[in-house]
Amino acid sequence: MNDEPLPGRPSSIKRAFGAYANREVPAEDVRLTHVGPGTPCGEYLRRFWQPVGHVKDLQDVPVPIRIMGEDLVLFRDRAGRIGLLQRHCCHRGASLEFGLIAERGIRCCYHGWLFDVDGTILETPAEPATSHLKESLFQGAYPTHEHCGLVFAYMGPSGRPPPFPRLDMFEVPGYRLEPGDSEQNIKPCNWLQVQDNVLDIGHETFLHARSSGLQINDAGGRPLAALADLPELDFFETPIGVLCMSTRRVGDSIWVRGLEHIAPNIAQIPRTPTLPPAYAPGTDRITVRPRATRWRVPVDDHHTLELSLVRVREGEPNTYSKQASLARRSNYGDRPYEERQRFPGDYDAQVSQRPIARHGLEHLASTDRGVALFRRQLRRGIDAVAEGKEPPESLRTFPARTYGFETLVRHPPANDAAADRQLLRDTARRLAEERLRGEASDSPVVI
Ligand code: FES
Ligand SMILES: [Fe+2]
Repeated sequence: MNDEPLPGRPSSIKRAFGAYANREVPAEDVRLTHVGPGTPCGEYLRRFWQPVGHVKDLQDVPVPIRIMGEDLVLFRDRAGRIGLLQRHCCHRGASLEFGLIAERGIRCCYHGWLFDVDGTILETPAEPATSHLKESLFQGAYPTHEHCGLVFAYMGPSGRPPPFPRLDMFEVPGYRLEPGDSEQNIKPCNWLQVQDNVLDIGHETFLHARSSGLQINDAGGRPLAALADLPELDFFETPIGVLCMSTRRVGDSIWVRGLEHIAPNIAQIPRTPTLPPAYAPGTDRITVRPRATRWRVPVDDHHTLELSLVRVREGEPNTYSKQASLARRSNYGDRPYEERQRFPGDYDAQVSQRPIARHGLEHLASTDRGVALFRRQLRRGIDAVAEGKEPPESLRTFPARTYGFETLVRHPPANDAAADRQLLRDTARRLAEERLRGEASDSPVVI
């Protein structure tokens, strides 16, 4: 038997029992996946404010963190200011995770050098009074911004942080913004495959419904059966990312869900699918905006931190929790292995793509149009920054308009199945285009 790879893509199996000719594992796409200092993607990601931790974790000891391959320490000094410093002291490298939080800044445990939150050296107490060391050195520091319970950092070139990105969804009247996950969720895999998952909206039918049984429940605890129906998928480029539409029929209504990818690593996710949302009396259309905004922040090339902000109606408790549904729980890696095998979820699918998914072994299909669009945008952004330009998707006006939405609209089924599928596609396209033109109107409720 001839085991030579057949013409075409060498990694494609084109014969039965063909593994022998298919054992080669190509390298990862370094340009899109590596995030350390000086890498093209790392430089691109560093042009955006990134969340790096929870405000609630800043107590009386420093918090060691690792972001985009850099070891750092996060703390709040006794005057209430937040500092993000390189972890190793610029004197002789002791870790500032063992530093003493001071009235102003943090003091290294080893020889007492005191650093302000911007890296200024305030004291070198073991040095002679005549020493000028503190005027000539700095501890490496990054600017931070506290927003609704999360700490954000700008890790790009000093002197030119962009404005903090105020999204329209941060400022919804009647709602407050809070962290969605009280515990850190770090996935042992590359950031890109975690973000790919947003664009891969077709996975919901299988991973969250058919493969594992229905993982997503409605507010009353009933399984959301409609999720198991194959949706019509469509993808639209927005000025800041990609709108990923999945459209299904639910009785005499059409349910359109638009998940949003915002460059470079943000997802806006519809509310917990308590669908269909109830029409207000006398209406035949309801549109709601996303419930959560979630960042996928690279810890390093092989680990990714997820942090979210969720909108909570004023006067009501925040019910967004890991325990809310199996789909939510299965986004974490702490479930028993047997449960993960029997009811696999987002964590299991994403992490098992290898520590860094190998694009050279993929065979992108029709459901991956959003993934392909995202990667093209990402490559364009990386190239722009490599050429010394601003990322094309930079937010310039505030509050910045975002595009994620969910609509239920009453429309009886067409005469036959094919015509009804066409009706679903046409409806989704019309709604997406309205929103892209800025002509969409939202219902007075958000989630
Ligand atoms: S190593 Fe930090 S003060 Fe000496
Ligand atoms: Fe998912």
